[in-house]
Amino acid sequence: MKKTITLAFVFVSIFAFSQQQTVDQKVKALLKQMTLEEKIGQLNQYTSNDAATGPITINNNKQNEIKKGLIGSMLNVMGTKRTRQYQELAMQSRLKIPLLFGLDVIHGYKTTFPIPLAEAASWDLTTIELAARVAATEAAASGIHWTFAPMVDISRDPRWGRVMEGAGEDTYLGSKIAYARVKGFQGNLGDVNSVMACVKHFAAYGAAVGGRDYNSVDMSNRMLWETYLPPFKAALDAGAATFMNSFNDLNGIPASANNYLLRDILKGKWNFQGFVVSDWGSIGEMVNHGYVKDNKEAALASITAGSDMDMESNAYRYNLEQLVKENKVPVALIDDAVKRILRKKFELGLFDDPYKFCNTEREQKEMNNPEHTKAAREMAAKSIVLLKNERDVLPLSKGLKTIAFIGPMVKPKRDNHGFWAVDVKEIDSTYIVSQWEGLENKVGKRTKILYAKGCGVESNSKEGFADALNVASQAEVIILSIGENFNKSGEAKSKSNLHLPGVQEDLIKELQKTGKPIVILINAGRPLVIDWIADNMPTIVYTWWLGSEAGNAIADVLFGDYNPSGKLPMSFPRIEGQIPIYYNHFNTGRPSVNEDKIYKSAYIDLPTTPKFPFGYGLSYTTFEYSDLKLSQKTIKNNESITVSVNIKNTGSVKGEEVVQLYLRDKVGSVVRPIIELKDFQKITLNKGETKTIQFTIDNQKLSFYNNALEFGSEPGDFDLMIGSSSADIRLRDSFELVK
Ligand code: GLC
Repeated sequence: MKKTITLAFVFVSIFAFSQQQTVDQKVKALLKQMTLEEKIGQLNQYTSNDAATGPITINNNKQNEIKKGLIGSMLNVMGTKRTRQYQELAMQSRLKIPLLFGLDVIHGYKTTFPIPLAEAASWDLTTIELAARVAATEAAASGIHWTFAPMVDISRDPRWGRVMEGAGEDTYLGSKIAYARVKGFQGNLGDVNSVMACVKHFAAYGAAVGGRDYNSVDMSNRMLWETYLPPFKAALDAGAATFMNSFNDLNGIPASANNYLLRDILKGKWNFQGFVVSDWGSIGEMVNHGYVKDNKEAALASITAGSDMDMESNAYRYNLEQLVKENKVPVALIDDAVKRILRKKFELGLFDDPYKFCNTEREQKEMNNPEHTKAAREMAAKSIVLLKNERDVLPLSKGLKTIAFIGPMVKPKRDNHGFWAVDVKEIDSTYIVSQWEGLENKVGKRTKILYAKGCGVESNSKEGFADALNVASQAEVIILSIGENFNKSGEAKSKSNLHLPGVQEDLIKELQKTGKPIVILINAGRPLVIDWIADNMPTIVYTWWLGSEAGNAIADVLFGDYNPSGKLPMSFPRIEGQIPIYYNHFNTGRPSVNEDKIYKSAYIDLPTTPKFPFGYGLSYTTFEYSDLKLSQKTIKNNESITVSVNIKNTGSVKGEEVVQLYLRDKVGSVVRPIIELKDFQKITLNKGETKTIQFTIDNQKLSFYNNALEFGSEPGDFDLMIGSSSADIRLRDSFELVK
């Protein structure tokens, strides 16, 4: 039997190797036929004129340039009809090299999933992978070969609008989610329901000074390796086909021409074989950075550093040929970039059939199909975080006679898409289930729902308050849906003030006077500052932006058809002045916990703890943790510890719990965080059920980057913590690592 398996493995390996050999041979043969101008064409990417996801320079000559083989990829072209039209132009070029079509399919294509930060709150890697799989299936059915996702930027700063697009503040959770998303998007790359992933933004874009988008990033290489690079490496380990560089300068060198990032790390140490696309215009923007004098120098710096494809800056298009003629850029550099791009086009099967992804029947079949809608509803429900449920107002009884559903987020559809919904032209919101529709679907005729908008999102008018109070007076329960509009987080949406805009909080205070139970739904793309609400309102649900099935998923949770299980992927600040705020911080020489001392690392006007901590989220049931056992209390480098713990559902309904395992390395050659997430398991328990779960602590989980950037563990004591959040540690133990 064993012999058979070995033989099969050998055969498969030879086959795979020969396949790759074939691709490399084809690439080599094609490259030999290409003129320098055609090679440079492959490094050039333009957007369609329909949609700009950046500052656009209109160029009405693109179609002619495609016919001449001067463009290798287009972005923001959607649909089998339009992609076919563009591909037909490419087929008129001398060598008939097919175009690559890229698009920001960040959280769904036609079926929209929750924004990525919301998905991260589910801590459900299987469902997150499924969400990406559905997005890829629909995008690929619409002619798309390549999504500019996953965005894997760690961020500890909710002022930065793009936190909505990532997986939050934690490196371990972010790495697991990056891996899952790449696997979901790429599936079996080359299939017609798969798209290339593009890991972005390389690197450290989420650490922009002041939370201001595109701003500078300055950090030690140790911090870069320890906190910001691991999700990129995880995505690469998942087989990511492409990377995208970031807009920011990192330690003074723009990412687009950052040799350390692109050559030393990505293509060197990590041996990345795919290709790197610049972010929109970022190569040309190095002139603004003051890193280069002009686009010609920008092209030189970027191609030399390892940026393979130029999105929308024209730097490569109009300068590379001259740079080669001036012997400033060796043709070998151009060839390497071209080979990386051609290899992907061969692997996708585009040379065999350039219209492989342009199948109109598949396009009709795949969009918004019931299976996808079901997946979106499940992902949305799992992304919802229950922040407070004092007096057990939730779940609502299905016997309620009258509900007042109030607020500016109740009826709009578009907002539920969140930012980065696929809306190259105008978004098709018809199939979005609004929060109002979701409640109607849930209660049917048995419950009367009264509506009042109450106020606008950003307006300061209180005209609607009277109407709101009127419907509230007629209802047994008030549901109030508020927040920030979808386009107030996302790219170029940094905010200095994270409080609820307009008079929404005033509306809450007015409704609070009725004395009626109020369920508050907060819709946002980022952690908001909700200090007063959190202190004064007993029932709060964070609903982010949940996508197509928002209304149904919210109703599922409100009525207990789904017991909320989300856990915050980011710390919620009490006020903006606390930012950056994150759970895995260092202890300092004068720890803030020393409440009785004057001299401590703390604010004199505010606690240093967040309003809601990383990993926090409630359920309609409760969980008891017990019987923490370690297989050994002392381990050597090559050994591991098996940790087991019992989790019991001590409540009255079935529920899911994210059991979190944290470590603290007590002493290190560089200071270590007071707590670090090192593993988690999301488990489902029926009421009264107990499960024993196990974790393995191996040397990898004890390792970190020392001052010499060596990754490894150091002997010493470790605290082990098992908790329901980073601030709700239920069981503790310790162990020692010995030489
Ligand atoms: C944007 C974004 C990037 C996106 C690209 C193409 O500026 O920074 O994430 O993929 O341009 O739309």
